[in-house]
Amino acid sequence: MRTRPLGPDAPAVSSIGFGGMPLSISGRPSEEQAIRTIHAALDAGATLIDTADVYCLDDNDLGHNERLIAKALGSWPGPRDHLIVATKGGLTRPGGRWERHGHPDHLRRACDRSLRALGVERIDLYQFHAPDSRVSFLESVGALAQLRTQGKVRWVGLSNVSVPEIEDASRLVPITTVQNRLSPFFREALRDGVVAHCAEQRIGFLAYSPVGGGRLNRKLPGHPVLRPIAERLGASTHAVTLAWVLAQGATVIPIPGSRTPEHARDAIAAADLPLAPEDLTAIDRAVFRTD
Ligand SMILES: NC(=O)c1ccc[n+]([C@@H]2O[C@H](COP(=O)([O-])OP(=O)(O)OC[C@H]3O[C@@H](n4cnc5c(N)ncnc54)[C@H](OP(=O)(O)O)[C@@H]3O)[C@@H](O)[C@H]2O)c1
Repeated sequence: MRTRPLGPDAPAVSSIGFGGMPLSISGRPSEEQAIRTIHAALDAGATLIDTADVYCLDDNDLGHNERLIAKALGSWPGPRDHLIVATKGGLTRPGGRWERHGHPDHLRRACDRSLRALGVERIDLYQFHAPDSRVSFLESVGALAQLRTQGKVRWVGLSNVSVPEIEDASRLVPITTVQNRLSPFFREALRDGVVAHCAEQRIGFLAYSPVGGGRLNRKLPGHPVLRPIAERLGASTHAVTLAWVLAQGATVIPIPGSRTPEHARDAIAAADLPLAPEDLTAIDRAVFRTD
């Protein structure tokens, strides 16, 4: 399995990780299938799993995905010492909606709840899910810095942030990772400089929704540019897409989600897919409609 450093102060992880969200939100599979899917990703060589307290149905179900991952890791026979589980705090799910909540008290409570849900004494990577305009960004980041000092968190990450926010946060606490959206459908992380900044600083860029998310990924198999590349390489269009995302920066680590073992295996295997420079250019230039 190819690896990439998770961050400047962290070890290497599989260059494609596994995103747990579809296993716990609306449309989720049975627990038995979800655990088989996580095991398939681990068997295929994934050593990074991304989760969040809010990957669940609503506020009564917080921690669903973290508990699921803890259960799957508990029954996985492989070696666990090199696995990194990354979770997040800073959102809530009232009535199933996604709302931001960056108050330090909330982050402290959320971290304690995540520690219990994951069944660990220290969270490997704790990410601030998204800046909350009602709370000073540095107050929120300060709460994560404190959690790190207390030993509840090993590494700190940010999500849904800009370059100035990464720079501001880095003055308070070492930032190991940044998790923003990146796929051929949504390339703002390339335009706003976040991917380049992370590469310069050796910060891991965890590319979320790398195949476009739950709805848009279904357009990939019929895509006129991806399909012939996939056919030539004997790969899926999803795998070609993930290989393109990987190629966008030296520290990019896509974290695709999936609800089936087959999709999980296919996604992780994309780490080894050789895309030629002309394939990358063709995908760069292609139109990916989001309607
Ligand atoms: N920080 C944030 O704000 C944020 C936001 C969104 C997501 N995330 C994280 O990023 C992860 C990934 O994002 P996402 O789940 O929104 O979108 P995604 O990974 O772009 O797409 C997920 C969907 O793509 C399908 N898929 C993936 N690989 C496939 C393959 N090789 N073949 C066929 N289908 C495939 C899966 O379908 P099936 O379900 O049918 O397998 C899955 O439901 C999440 O799980 C979560 O950990 C973070």
